Amino acid sequence: MNTVDLIIKKRNGNVLSQEEIEFLVNGYTNGTIPDYQMSAFLMAVYFKGMNHDETVALTKIMRDSGDVVNLGNIDGIKVDKHSTGGVGDKTTLIVAPIAAACGVPIAKMSGRGLGFTGGTVDKLESIPGYHTAIEESDFINQVNETGIALIGQTGHIALADKKIYALRDVTGTVENLSLITSSIMSKKLAAGSDAIVLDVKCGTGAFMKKEDDACQLASLMVEIGNASGKRTMAVITDMNQPLGNAVGNTLEVIEAIETLKGKGPDDITRLSVKLSALMIYAGGKAETIEEGQVMAEDAINSGHALDKLRQLIAAQKGNPQVIDDYSLMPSTNNCYKVIASTDGYISSIDAMKIGVASQHTGAGRATKEDVIDLGAGIYLCKKTGDHVSSGDTIAIIHTDKENYREIISEVEAAVSICDKSVVPPELIKRYFI
Ligand code: URA
Repeated sequence: MNTVDLIIKKRNGNVLSQEEIEFLVNGYTNGTIPDYQMSAFLMAVYFKGMNHDETVALTKIMRDSGDVVNLGNIDGIKVDKHSTGGVGDKTTLIVAPIAAACGVPIAKMSGRGLGFTGGTVDKLESIPGYHTAIEESDFINQVNETGIALIGQTGHIALADKKIYALRDVTGTVENLSLITSSIMSKKLAAGSDAIVLDVKCGTGAFMKKEDDACQLASLMVEIGNASGKRTMAVITDMNQPLGNAVGNTLEVIEAIETLKGKGPDDITRLSVKLSALMIYAGGKAETIEEGQVMAEDAINSGHALDKLRQLIAAQKGNPQVIDDYSLMPSTNNCYKVIASTDGYISSIDAMKIGVASQHTGAGRATKEDVIDLGAGIYLCKKTGDHVSSGDTIAIIHTDKENYREIISEVEAAVSICDKSVVPPELIKRYFI
């Protein structure tokens, strides 16, 4: 086989066989195919697409390009959850303890973030002492003993995706249905759980801006997951405005803890309960999703989910006192208010613009090497639909950066105020069960 021939074949819109895709993916992973040829191939896929069989083949080849974790030594149906990413999305920190408190074993690996805020692993590192790098055998023992472990993804899962995703990031080839599907599902299928719940975001702060595109992505991922023997479900959720009020690592951990105390913002609480319900149902602990929802609400109201978070933090050598004393987590020395200059209603809060502003506070990385300021971020005091009076605080910026005035302007530009009342966007748009 010849790499140039395969690039031309895809460039001309033809279908590649499993062997041809294997040749390209494995060749790139082991270094025999250089970046420039893989970049050309990815751009050809970006423009010409891949059909269903090609996408399935690509997913499986990428899954098998690294370790496939065996969670067989953990009793019960292990359920994983994945969000396609958005601003203020801290649901893993909430749904994992809720589902575990309801008896679903959670053995979850998460990533670091590149972009607006940290990923789940960065957020967890806001908890002093919390270890995210854990040996596989200790990971499995912890789930058997406490019912939950949240760790960093090992560098050995889906090796091909690691290399290809990094290349896509710098060659303008991220936003392609087959490439996103195979990238996410290869990692989820390799991570060892028996069932997968996907939260597919759509809106200004998501990869998928349009609901139709998000639905196509959800439907393809659900189909590939189920065809690979993992019960897979998805929800399409709004990412036009940030989720919850907090954007930034410590700020999001605090909001997650508040939600587990029953005092979280309405949107993050509703979404977390729905996702937990799906996880409890997929894990065989509820006969119906409605029953799963009641169990999830009970786990919050009884304090069992909060206790599970306490156990998780202690098991991973973090300081569980953070749950009662938020001052134990990193914070910035400086905070700045963004003030409403007029009366009216918040008509939109552009999630993408808030995400970029949050990165500028120091809460996110622009490159892999950047060091995150775990205390930095943006707290939104108002959300879409809220009434504001001139002089009200719309947001609080937590940053020690000197260019805080620019960040204030960025947040002001992200928030629109109008004089008529506004209905906030529907949070949960569709289910793929
Ligand atoms: N997340 C991933 O892991 N891969 C993609 O391609 C997009 C989002």
